[in-house]
Amino acid sequence: MNIKIEKPTFEDADIIAKYANNIKIWRGLTDNFPHPYSKQNAIDFIKIIEKEEPQRTFKITKDGQFVGFTGIVLQEGIYRKNAEIGYWIAEEFWGQGIASEAVNLLVKYLCKTFYDIEKIYAKVFDSNIASIRVLEKNRFRKEATLEQIAYKDNEYKDIHYYSFFIWPMMRLDLTKSI
Ligand SMILES: CC(C)(COP(=O)(O)OP(=O)(O)OC[C@H]1O[C@@H](n2cnc3c(N)ncnc32)[C@H](O)[C@@H]1OP(=O)(O)O)[C@@H](O)C(=O)NCCC(=O)NCCS
Repeated sequence: MNIKIEKPTFEDADIIAKYANNIKIWRGLTDNFPHPYSKQNAIDFIKIIEKEEPQRTFKITKDGQFVGFTGIVLQEGIYRKNAEIGYWIAEEFWGQGIASEAVNLLVKYLCKTFYDIEKIYAKVFDSNIASIRVLEKNRFRKEATLEQIAYKDNEYKDIHYYSFFIWPMMRLDLTKSI
């Protein structure tokens, strides 16, 4: 399986909208992710992320075909040593190990590109077992549970905070293996 993380282009807008317009994907994400998801939403999103330097948001491809998104949100102020990651995979590609591999690639890229970042984290709904596995397989560990902190889809939800400390030797190892 040839999984890559790459810069998206406006040519991806149709396929992004096709796969992103799925309530099952929206349910795992924050409300910043629109639903329904139109081609215009995809175009607006690409307009924002194409200016990123260094790149922080990537399309995920499998054998050259678009299958999802993953990205990094650098934190600011007193939280500036932290970066949050997120990801989604088109439903027809679920269960093939794609998110696990994409997160592995993203963590390596982050270690190599953002030397100031020392901690990576992800926030995941407690019901999102697949996403929790993706994080565990990438050596993230559950640091906290924030009870009933989110209100999504007309329900209060617990969020697990999963984190990954980048120790200096680990950064060296991860960077070498790219
Ligand atoms: C969460 C998501 C990204 C997982 O993507 P994926 O490519 O299917 O994940 P993987 O194939 O790498 O699977 C990861 C693990 O989850 C397991 N898994 C997948 N679906 C599962 C389910 N419904 N219940 C339990 N485990 C599940 C897989 O078996 C695998 O574990 P294993 O290797 O130990 O067997 C995908 O379901 C998705 O896009 N969901 C909507 C958006 C979202 O929730 N994003 C994450 C926000 S934190």
